[in-house]
Parts: sequence; C-alpha cells; structure tokens
Amino acid sequence: MVKSQSMQPHRIPLLVLTLWMSACSVALPSLPDRTPGVSPPISDTPSVPRPSKTKFPSCEPPAISFPQTTIPEFPSPVQTSSPSDLNLTLRKLADQRDMYIGAAGDASQYSDPEYVQLLTQEFNMIAAENAMKWQVLHPEPDRYDFSAGDALVAFAKIHNMAVYGHVLVWDYGYPAWVAEGNRSRDEWIQLLCTHVKTVANHYRGQIYAWHVVNEAFENDGSLRKTLWMQAIGPEYIAMAFQWAREADPGALLILNDHFGEGLNEKSEAIYALVQGLLQMGVPIDGVGMQMHLWLWGPPTSQELEANMQRLADLDLDVHITEMDVRTQQSSDSEEVKLAAQADTYRKVFAACLATQRCKVFVTWGLTDRYSWIPIHTGHPDAPLLFDENGLPKPAYFAIRVLLKNP
Ligand code: XIL
Repeated sequence: MVKSQSMQPHRIPLLVLTLWMSACSVALPSLPDRTPGVSPPISDTPSVPRPSKTKFPSCEPPAISFPQTTIPEFPSPVQTSSPSDLNLTLRKLADQRDMYIGAAGDASQYSDPEYVQLLTQEFNMIAAENAMKWQVLHPEPDRYDFSAGDALVAFAKIHNMAVYGHVLVWDYGYPAWVAEGNRSRDEWIQLLCTHVKTVANHYRGQIYAWHVVNEAFENDGSLRKTLWMQAIGPEYIAMAFQWAREADPGALLILNDHFGEGLNEKSEAIYALVQGLLQMGVPIDGVGMQMHLWLWGPPTSQELEANMQRLADLDLDVHITEMDVRTQQSSDSEEVKLAAQADTYRKVFAACLATQRCKVFVTWGLTDRYSWIPIHTGHPDAPLLFDENGLPKPAYFAIRVLLKNP
C-alpha cells in the first residue's frame, strides 16, 4: 500500500516545542533579526557550520582505540567515454556551479569496475546508504565496527569526492540491544550521546554533512514517538545537534525527513521546529528533503520553491538527500513512465537551482540495479537516473540540461 502524502488531521508540534522550550533551562542567545519574510543576507559560501550555544548534558566519547580498518582494494575506473563527453558529466557541470551531486551506496558495490567508473565520473559526493547506521557501526554495547564506513571514506578520498554521513539518530537501523534493558532517562541520554559523539568524532573532518536526526516527524506533523522521543523527550533532537557539533565542528548538521518537501502539515512542523532550534542557539545548519517520490502527486514547483526558500530565509541550507522516483503502479508504457519520471526530477532539480542555499542533490542509489525500492516494496521498479545496465535515462538528461543551461 502506497502511503499518501495528502494532509491528515493537524496536530501542532509547535505546542510541544513551546512547552519544551519554556521548560528547558537553556539560556536563549540574543537573536539575530529573523523577521519573517525578511531574508538575512546570504553569503556566497553559505555552508559554514554554526557554533553551538546550547548547554545540554553531554558525555565524553569512550577512550577506545579502534583497530585500524583494512581498506579493500578498489578497482580503478575504466575510462570508456571520449574527452568531449567528460566535459558534460553531472560531476563536471556541478563542479562548475560549486554544487554537490551525490549518490548513496555502500563500499561493497565498489568492487564492480563499471559501477566505480559511473559513480566517479558522474558524481562528486557519495552518501553512506547503510555503512554508518547504528546496526553496522555499533553492533554491540562496547563494540564499534567502522570498517564499512572507513572503506567508503577511503574510496571518496581516492576519487576526490565529498562524503555525506547518514545517520546519527534514527528510529530504525539500530540493533536489538539498544532497545533492551531498563535505563533511567539520564542513562538513555548517555547512551545516545556516547554513540553520536563516538561516531561523529571518528569521522571528524571527513564528513561534509551529517544527517543528525532522521525522520523525527509523522506525516501529520506531530513528533514521531521514536525510541528516543519516549526515552528522553523532544529534547533528544536539540541534544543530538549539540553533541554532533561538539564532536565534529566542521560538518554541516542537518535535520532530514521525507514528505515535508512541499507545503503541508509536515513541512510546517519541520519549519516550526528548526525555527525554534535556531532561536535556542542549537547548532543546526540545514534541512534535508529526502524526496522519495512517486510518479503521481509530486509536490508542485511553487510549493517546492516556497518551502525551500522559507528555510533558506532562516539562514539554513537545503539539501535534496535521498531522491528517487518510483515507477511502479502505473499502467503507462515504459516510455511514458520514464518521461514522467524525468519531469519530476527536472522539477525538483530546478527548484533546488532556484534556491541559492540548495547546493546538494543526492539520489538514493546509483543505478536501478542497486535501488532499495524493489526490495522495500516487493515490486520491480526503476527509480534512479541510470538503468540496470548503468545507461543514462531521460531523468539524467533532464538534470544535465538544467545544470548546463541555467
Ligand atoms: C534504506 C537502504 O537504502 C536499504 O538498503 C536498507 O535496507 C534500509 O534503509 N530513508 C532513509 C534511509 O533515511 O536510511 C533508508 O535507506 C531509505 C529511507
């Protein structure tokens, strides 16, 4: 069953947020002028992480010396394109615009030379699809395993690509031991803090941006009753940002979610939350729009642009973080479906280009062969820019044209 993006009864998280903020003993910083509708001046290089002015409880990451990871041998890309084609890759065009264009993946895929060729030729960023999730990095209470994440970072270094860290706090992707056991609220705080700071500290200086908190909201705009919400309360969000900043002052810190891309209850709630966090001096640098879409009912260009711009007007970056467009559940011909898919990519990419603070565009996977959607939905699909064989689809050309001709 496909989830609906349509509006549902409104439950106002602002109330929760206001109660929480007034209950918090956090000293409010003196506020910059954030009069609604008045954009602060936007610098040419917007992505400067903000300092933390919050004072939540914290922790020291454990003084464990982790074994040096053995980095696998990656195959070299096999150059097959002509030099003129190489001037037209997404990577080349994005570089010229100081933009990041990325694809999510895992280092296990990097043993395929064709995959490596395509990825390194077309993209200047990789996102950790699974390698930096809790269950991979921190499988047992006192054991961390950074091998998969380290391989990804090593690959990025070799190919001069940026790394998008995913994810420090989420309600999925953690091992069973995390949810087990009786802990006091302080112990839950210590558990989460230790994880966040150990991971962010391990990758300090190597991550362009972190998804600090992922999917904190329900689609109706209420805060999701995640493990962390129940154990710690809504402050877990602000705390996670503070801890991530303490551990890696150079990475951009992002709140990431889905279905809050257009104008709806969820995007209202996200806007209200980040506005509140900024007012509290929480070191949040941007909002990630996952952008997992379908052929039917994507947000309109006007909605996308309005939502992105109002976040940018708060002096935040906007990242497209996990884009894919499902083609399943349509009886149209392949050609029609791919054209409609290209339209959706075009619309989202154009909205990003129209927003000065949108400098990151990531698809959730490289080719249709490696997409998570068929496994997740149980149906075949073709949601990405490249087909099963790594050949560019209409969506690829739609983006390339926009990158080339502003
Ligand atoms: C998905 C991965 O792509 C799959 O390989 C994994 O089995 C499950 O998680 N939103 C997110 C991502 O933030 O972490 C999810 O990634 C896709 C939805």
